[in-house]
Amino acid sequence: MRVVSGIQPTGNLHLGNYLGAIMRWAKMQDEGECLFFLADLHAITVHNDPAELTANVRGMAAALIACGIDTERSILFNQARVSAHAELAWLLNGTARIGWLNRMTQFKEKSGKNREGASVGLYVYPVLMAADVLLYQATHVPVGEDQKQHLELARDLAAKFNTDFGVDLFTLPEPLIGETAARIMSLRDGTAKMSKSDPSDMSRINLSDDSETIAQKIRKAKTDAEPLPATMAELADRPEARNLVGIFAAFAGRTADEVLADYAGSGFGAFKPALAELTVETLRPIRERYLELLAHPSEIDAILARGAERAAVLARPTLEGAYAALGLPRGG
Ligand code: TYM
Repeated sequence: MRVVSGIQPTGNLHLGNYLGAIMRWAKMQDEGECLFFLADLHAITVHNDPAELTANVRGMAAALIACGIDTERSILFNQARVSAHAELAWLLNGTARIGWLNRMTQFKEKSGKNREGASVGLYVYPVLMAADVLLYQATHVPVGEDQKQHLELARDLAAKFNTDFGVDLFTLPEPLIGETAARIMSLRDGTAKMSKSDPSDMSRINLSDDSETIAQKIRKAKTDAEPLPATMAELADRPEARNLVGIFAAFAGRTADEVLADYAGSGFGAFKPALAELTVETLRPIRERYLELLAHPSEIDAILARGAERAAVLARPTLEGAYAALGLPRGG
């Protein structure tokens, strides 16, 4: 089992990232060989201030370590340090079809009405993602629901390359999507994904938020006036309530129905303080460790450099295999 996954280095890790992906990354370290990376090459598909990007790579690395990524056992690095990512993405561009990319909902969402003005990088973003996982022969890719379509494209790409060139080079990666927290929603709108691009900071809980801020965001989270029912099925038309119960369940390591069994009949006046306490207490040690790590940027850089060296060694055979399959001579 080889586990590979990435996250974009933005200023903040939010609860959607944590519950949808990172918490599971940390657990998977017991199950297989893991590579985790900061997707800084993906980050440049929209405009980023260069100095901020450098700082965000360090900040996100610190956040991942604070969340339990063990850099002895797992390989942690940033994409830009391992040139094989950009190289393989280019090689795969010859196999990826425009029709496949045209179907990507994330490109449609991110480019919005300004499609003509979006970067080419944003369009071919899923090809780089495919390279990220195929390079390492990933068998499992833990992600939130929003990345599922991209991973299906990675599988199609791997299969087409193997067939077109008559090789058995790429492993088809399996997306691993959690049951309880696959899609954490905004605290202000239960129909919108919790996201770093939402203009309202009240819509998300950030790893860097202090306890009072977290409690306040949960207190003010949008809900309805009804008491909680006994099963998730009864919450089908109450997206905000469903989201809060899902968050509780993910933190508590229980199913949403188990949580509802305890709170059936209670209103949010009782449920929200319990959720706030659980969230605050779980995130407190993570935030403390994160702030501690941030104070030592050169140590973080050293960890990423070492991770990149280890990753580059693992990437090399697949990259060489791709050049060879395509009939591209290499070396002196
Ligand atoms: P990114 O940086 O947007 O998100 C990182 C991880 O967090 C998950 N996630 C969520 N899960 C549940 N609810 C939410 N509201 C929520 N928001 C984000 C994402 O699904 C993701 O797992 N393109 C990727 C980064 C990437 C990658 C890869 C991932 C680059 N190459 C290769 C896997 C494999 C991205 O932008 O994730």
